[in-house]
Amino acid sequence: MKNRILVINGPNLQLLGKREPEIYGNETLDDIAAKMQSKANEYGIKLEFFQSCSEGAIAERIGAEVMQNELDGIIINPGAYSHTSIAILDAIKALKIPVIEVHLSNIHAREEFRHQSMTGRGAAGVICGFGSYSYMLALDGMINKIGK
Ligand code: DQA
Repeated sequence: MKNRILVINGPNLQLLGKREPEIYGNETLDDIAAKMQSKANEYGIKLEFFQSCSEGAIAERIGAEVMQNELDGIIINPGAYSHTSIAILDAIKALKIPVIEVHLSNIHAREEFRHQSMTGRGAAGVICGFGSYSYMLALDGMINKIGK
């Protein structure tokens, strides 16, 4: 057990709090990170946060984790790349640790083009529709999955 979980956020999620608040809420990514870390502390788990708008940078970061093997799991909101990115899916598939995909909104209740998650095919589980609380549920699911 490494007691380390990486939380990856994709494009436009750095805008949380300002971006379409009627869909994504008023909390910032830092607010969400702070809540997650305080829960993780109860389990002696250190969270790391990585945000990028670049598909390549996300694939590279996941690839680096494949090589380093220093994590227990990855929680990821790939944003719009969820619906399109074979590159991120392939990177996820290279991992030997569980990945939980998270979305603030219920992607199934939105536009047709959001209904499919390409990256979700590589995930152990997918959580969507609970706003910022989706991340807390994902963390809970991950803690359960890694047997903490
Ligand atoms: C999102 C849903 C995606 O369709 C969208 O492109 C996002 C955010 C969510 O968290 O609800 O950027 O992943």
